[in-house]
Amino acid sequence: MNADPSTRQPFFYDITLRDGNQALRKPWNTREKKVVFQRLLELGVQGVEVGFSGASEMDFEACAALAEIAPPAVVISGLARAVERDIQKVADAIAAAPRQRIHTFIAMSPFNMAHVLRKKPEDVAKIAVEAVTRAAALMKPRGGEVQFSAEHFGDCRENLPWVIETFLRVVEAGATIINLPNTVERARPFAFVDMVRQVVAAMPAHVTVAVHCHNDLGMGTATTVESYFAGARQLEVSINGLGERAGNTNLFEVAVALHNCDVAIPLDMTRIYPTAIEVSEMSGVPIHEKAPLIGADAMAHRSGIHQDGVAKTKDMEKGAYRPIHPSLIGREGAERLGFTSQSGKTAVYEILTGAGWPITIEEAIELQPRLKALSESRGELPVDVMVQEYRDHVNHVPGPFQFLKMDRLENGGGVEKFSLRFIHDGKEVEEIGEGDGPIDACLNALKKRGVQVELVHYEQHALAEERDGAAAEAMTVIRLRQPGESDSVICRGIDTDTRRANVRAIFNGLNRLATKTS
Ligand code: KIV
Ligand code: ZN
Repeated sequence: MNADPSTRQPFFYDITLRDGNQALRKPWNTREKKVVFQRLLELGVQGVEVGFSGASEMDFEACAALAEIAPPAVVISGLARAVERDIQKVADAIAAAPRQRIHTFIAMSPFNMAHVLRKKPEDVAKIAVEAVTRAAALMKPRGGEVQFSAEHFGDCRENLPWVIETFLRVVEAGATIINLPNTVERARPFAFVDMVRQVVAAMPAHVTVAVHCHNDLGMGTATTVESYFAGARQLEVSINGLGERAGNTNLFEVAVALHNCDVAIPLDMTRIYPTAIEVSEMSGVPIHEKAPLIGADAMAHRSGIHQDGVAKTKDMEKGAYRPIHPSLIGREGAERLGFTSQSGKTAVYEILTGAGWPITIEEAIELQPRLKALSESRGELPVDVMVQEYRDHVNHVPGPFQFLKMDRLENGGGVEKFSLRFIHDGKEVEEIGEGDGPIDACLNALKKRGVQVELVHYEQHALAEERDGAAAEAMTVIRLRQPGESDSVICRGIDTDTRRANVRAIFNGLNRLATKTS
């Protein structure tokens, strides 16, 4: 066995269409199996167990249909109990495939042999050897191969020497793949991996050792990945972890975990996320939002500390709080921040800039307590609620000034004349101002009232297009300062009328300056 994991490529053997399918509430028909098969080919798996052809006429037909369309490089196998009828059914069903494999199995744990098969170990060994001999006779003329599985291998700790001895006999009978199923996950990964290591050491070099781990205790991925490093080359996995009970080992988790350990993965991993979503819909098995890699929440961050780390590393390949770059699995843009009462200014800034709002970090600091208070009762805030809060915050700065109305009186010779109505220190006043635009005219009108400020920066953004009957809006962003001072304040005004947006920005700025100096 080549023990070096960097040169020993894993063989991804997918069992979604067999173990996964047999556990569905409504097993797939041929048409549905063809779709999933196509997705597996796009992912680039090396082997597909297309079904259990002896289970039903429908599954036999599906296996035969997939064998017909199988590409030359992919191993097509079918599962058979160690009985003549099942073995013949597989041979018939996969006859059209370029690379064929019969996968036969029998339970070998002391408990199952005694209580389920009700057979003596020597009889089980004999059945195993006979089944493999029969399968090999069918496969040999077609250049196919035979896989043998010791069902309940994970429960074979006490009779492992006998199991290994039987493996050597089935290898002699023609099996070239020995599969070690953790049919029911009951113990810790280390115990299983230790047994895998013993089998690998005992097998002749031409034999591929496979592992097939169920996920009853949630450790299927760990067991499979560690088994690979113990010498197992064929990894039996399924899309989204579909399979009996708590499922089989998830293909995606194994591929990514090995990738992160610098093992070359012979798959198109960018197909992972779209495949996960499609197969979830097709199987009727939803993906838990906390499912590793593919769950809706798997790349969401809510605590302030995590959000800060995420923002600081967002453009890097390695992120502070994610196992991979989302693009590795076809989830570009999936990393997101959610604002809750646990979140800080970074989330405010990142979420609003991400939604196209030109907020500054200073404004985010001001807005955060208001959003936090809201979130204490409402939970995670939708982006549109945050936008609304932001708009209110920047467009209605409290203070001694309140803009009421502006009317254009004249426009001629490059000079504009406006009447400006506003409240100053509780008194409603009206002033006329002239200038070469509404901002200039407004500042001149204010000057008449003894209010003097300098404009040091101006920009205007078009906000969302006219939508759902609501008029398009503009946002004016300016910086104002007191004459002779170097410090300025940023202020904004939002309105459907660009001139009014400018004047609102000035009044918001006056209030900011007033509260800053008071
Ligand atoms: O879990 C299991 O033991 C199996 C075998 C048939 C390989 O699915
Ligand atoms: Zn299984």
